[in-house]
Order: sequence, then structure tokens, then C-alpha cells
Amino acid sequence: MTTQALETVFTMEATPVKFGRGAAHEAGWEAARLGMRRVLLVTDAQVAALGLSENVAAQLRVAGIEVSVFDRSRVEPTLESLQEAVVFARAYGPDGFVSLGGGSSIDTAKVANLLLSHGGEVMDYVNPPIGAGRKPAGPLLPHLAIPTTPGSGSEATTVAVLDLPALKVKTGISHRYLRPAQAIVDPELTRSAPSAVIASAGLDVVCHAAESYLSRPFGTRPKPATPDERPPYQGSNPVADVWSAQAIRFGGEFLRRAVADADDLEARGMMMLAATMAGVGFGSAGVHIPHSCAYPIAGLKHDYRAEGYPSAFIPHGFSVIVTAPAAFRFTFDALPERHLQVAEWLTGGKLENPGPDSLPNALIDLMRGVGAPSGLSELGYTEQDLPALVAGAVKQQRLLAVAPKPPTEADLETILRASFENW
Ligand SMILES: [Fe+2]
Repeated sequence: MTTQALETVFTMEATPVKFGRGAAHEAGWEAARLGMRRVLLVTDAQVAALGLSENVAAQLRVAGIEVSVFDRSRVEPTLESLQEAVVFARAYGPDGFVSLGGGSSIDTAKVANLLLSHGGEVMDYVNPPIGAGRKPAGPLLPHLAIPTTPGSGSEATTVAVLDLPALKVKTGISHRYLRPAQAIVDPELTRSAPSAVIASAGLDVVCHAAESYLSRPFGTRPKPATPDERPPYQGSNPVADVWSAQAIRFGGEFLRRAVADADDLEARGMMMLAATMAGVGFGSAGVHIPHSCAYPIAGLKHDYRAEGYPSAFIPHGFSVIVTAPAAFRFTFDALPERHLQVAEWLTGGKLENPGPDSLPNALIDLMRGVGAPSGLSELGYTEQDLPALVAGAVKQQRLLAVAPKPPTEADLETILRASFENW
């Protein structure tokens, strides 16, 4: 009978956050407080070119900390780019990490920290079946994460995502020890972000929060045999809901403004906060169908050019949002009240004709309002790509397991087929 028992426990963890305009000036104080004396500052070339990393390095030096800068994090980290960071970290021997940038820089620091602390190779730790799923034996070195885009929420999560172009798959490493020790979230750092970057990142935030709020309730999962086997993505629960709900409200209220005006630091700041809050929510509840579809969408074709990005590729948030309307039309009947609640939060008012289309319509309105691509066609996909897209989405069982109703392969095909043009 024990195999049929249902889960009765959920866990909730959050990264300590320091938020506000000018908060990044306290990076040196925070790093010293965490016991760092010799820091590897992980960033990317774009952030470095803006002078942001030099500013943070200066703050660290004022606090008496030695700093070396690794500025070759890749947007969409690959095995090679992560290994390069690991080699750099092993040669320098830091006693702590500071990451500055989008989710890619934060994730690169997580992986470099993991391998410096516990040895081995990247693939040893990658989620099975693609990697060996090794678990770190103990905590890592302290990591202070400073995001510069309001998107991934990586500063608040236990996950590092990586792209494996040879296998045409995106996967990740996931363990609670990967969660940064502290985050500094400073709206000033977003001032230089192009509006398409804010749009993609913000739509990702909305999906993190909506997918988490609309995930399978934790108490409907089978009870794990041991605490060690409890999955990181546990399904919705009363505490994750609080974080997800507020992130959805902020997305509805502030994303359009944040995209329209780089100097609207109130709106950009609230989206930064929403990203972190959504990160806490999905770090406990989990994301499912739109993120499962996003892996092959971002992994199979790399010709799309989004304004404001340095190279041709499909920004993560756009790869996620394009299937969200169809995905939530599919899941509606599993949790109808919750779907309508999300639509209400996004639109900021009472719904006129509440039903299965309310949330898809609210999402499409938001997508149009921030200049998102209308669907898979605009990202370069045709009908002929459907089998490969479906095959890639089906592989993400770790995520699909928290969908409020399990999609079959045929369901995923229907969702992807409906996502070529959302308007
Ligand atoms: Fe995401």
C-alpha cells in the first residue's frame, strides 16, 4: 500500500534578497559578510562592455577583497562554455563567487562553484537520463548573485540550465546546494537593457509564475520513499502560491511599462522583483508544459534574430511564451478557477466572459503589448518541424510531471500545432 500513499510534505526555500536602487553598491559589504576574501566575478562580454562588472569589482576591492573577472559566460551556456569557466575557476582558486548578468552568468557561476567545490565533470551532475545526476556531497562556496535582467530568477533557484547543441537538447543541473547564498537586485542595472530583452525576460517571469500557480497540487503526487527522492519541482502549495500570485500581478501591471520606457525604473524594478519572486515560487512548485516545449523550440533552430540581442538565437522567454496560450487552454479543465484567477491578475480586473479562452487571451494581449513574436512561424518553424518539436518536448518528463493533467504525445502535438500563429 505504501506505493499508493500520497505526498503530505512540501518544502520552501528562498534566497535572502537585498533589493532597491543602488543596492549593487553594497556588493563588497555583502561579499565580505559572506566571508569572501578572493572572489571570482562571473559575467558576460556585454555586461563587461557596459562597465557594470568593473563597478562591482571596484566595490569588492574597496571591501579588501581580491577579484578576478571571468567575462566569457555564454548566453545559453553550453558544455564548452561551462567547462571554460570551471578551468578558469580551478586555476584561480577563489573562496567565493559573485555573478553579475542574466541567468546565464548566474548559472555559469553555479556550475563553476559546484565543480570547484566537489570535483568531477559537468556531465556527472546533469539531470538524468542525459547526465549521471550526481548529487553534491555538501554545501558549495558562498555565491552572491546580482541579476542585470528581470527574467530567469536564477538568483533564487537551485537550477543551472545548459544547452547541448550536439544532442539538440537543453537540460540542466538541479540541487538545493546550487542556490546562491545572497542576491542583490538593483533596478539601476536594468537601465541599459534593450526593450526586447525586457520583453522576453518579463514573459518568462509571467510563465514561471503562471505555470507554478497552475501546477499539479503537491498532495496529489505519490509520496517519495525517502526525503532524498522528493523532486525539486513539487507542485503547487500554499506558500509557493503567494510568491507566484504576486509575480503574476506585477507582470500584468508593470511589464508593458518596463518594455516601453528604459527610464521607468519603477516598472523595471517591479519586474526585477517579480522575477525573483517567481523564482522562489517555481523553485518550489515547478514549471511544466510551456517550458517543456521551450527546450526544443530554443534548441532546434538558431536563425531568429531578436532586436537588442548580440546574435541570432531564440530568446528563452519568447521560446516559452509562444506555446503558453495553447498550453493553458489544454490545462483549463484541470483547474478552471485557478486559470480564471491568473487571467484576472494579468488583466487587473473582472473578466467579461470567463472561460477556457480567458487566460490565453490575456497572455496574447500581453504578448502583443510588448512586441513578442506571434508564434512558432515567426521563430522559423513549419509543420515539417512538428515531429522533432514534439519529440523534444516529450523528453522533459521531469517538468511534464508537474502539469495539472499529464499531456500525451498527441496533446503536445496539438498544443504545438496551435502555436504557429497566436494572432
Ligand atoms: Fe524560464
